[in-house]
Amino acid sequence: MRIAVANNKGGAGKTTAIAHLAEALAARGRRVLAVDLDPQANLSRRLGYGEADLTDMVTAAEVVAANQKGCAADALVGCRWTGSAADLATRIDLLPARYDLEARVAEAGQLGSHERLDVALTGVAEDYDVTLLDCPPSLGHLTQLGLAAADTVVLVLRPEFDHLQGAIRVRDFVAAYRRHLGRPDLAVSGVIVNEHDRRRGLHAWHTESVTETFGELVWSPPVPSRAVLAEAIDAAQPLRARGAPARPLLEVFATLADQLEVRLDAAV
Ligand SMILES: Nc1ncnc2c1ncn2[C@@H]1O[C@H](COP(=O)(O)OP(=O)(O)OP(=O)(O)O)[C@@H](O)[C@H]1O
Ligand SMILES: [Mg+2]
Repeated sequence: MRIAVANNKGGAGKTTAIAHLAEALAARGRRVLAVDLDPQANLSRRLGYGEADLTDMVTAAEVVAANQKGCAADALVGCRWTGSAADLATRIDLLPARYDLEARVAEAGQLGSHERLDVALTGVAEDYDVTLLDCPPSLGHLTQLGLAAADTVVLVLRPEFDHLQGAIRVRDFVAAYRRHLGRPDLAVSGVIVNEHDRRRGLHAWHTESVTETFGELVWSPPVPSRAVLAEAIDAAQPLRARGAPARPLLEVFATLADQLEVRLDAAV
């Protein structure tokens, strides 16, 4: 199953959700393909490919430009997590991105160009249990490439007004344009609340608004705001590399992965 992870709001935790859901899924034996559709290339770095590594690599930019059936296979690389995550890293592959993925936006006016990632993943994504597509915080061409290649959409947001609005815009955009994207059944099937700080009244208030807006689509528990998670993100490490302080978060992502698996099982 291919899942586009999106919000029309930056810094919501989209890339974080993908990296650590991939960790949780791979830890239970699932094969995960992570697709970086953001020229910021944050997901690529977090799975072990920094800017210097990416210079000479074939990335999503070339794959989308090539527009050849299955050509993403030529660009896939393995997750580079080491130590206690080395074994599970063998079950995570990455289609990396570089800043020049931005160049694909210029092709948006070409008829059918939004289908190019879908074409490139044909026969490739099927080798994985889950494909997680990391969309940039826009509704533009790069996100549309992701949506046109996705079976379903998961939104990530902080319990704050602008984040909820960004998530609603994605939901409404999908509903309005899914037919044009060649995915007439595309819809939101999950909402992850991230960076929840239960000491903040604002977060409690907006967590209620998220539930009022998205109802049963909201996955639980929310991902709490934790320094250890920011540290893992900064160091491009899996959570299990951060020892005891990260254990509660491993459980949070395992529980969220359970909810993703329900969708997987339903899709079979
Ligand atoms: N649960 C959390 N606890 C603490 N810090 C967090 C948490 N989630 C995210 N962060 C912080 O927020 C930053 C942004 O997260 P992330 O890169 O996952 O967001 P994003 O939605 O992918 O952003 P963008 O829209 O730029 O792609 C991280 O670098 C990290 O510092
Ligand atoms: Mg991101």
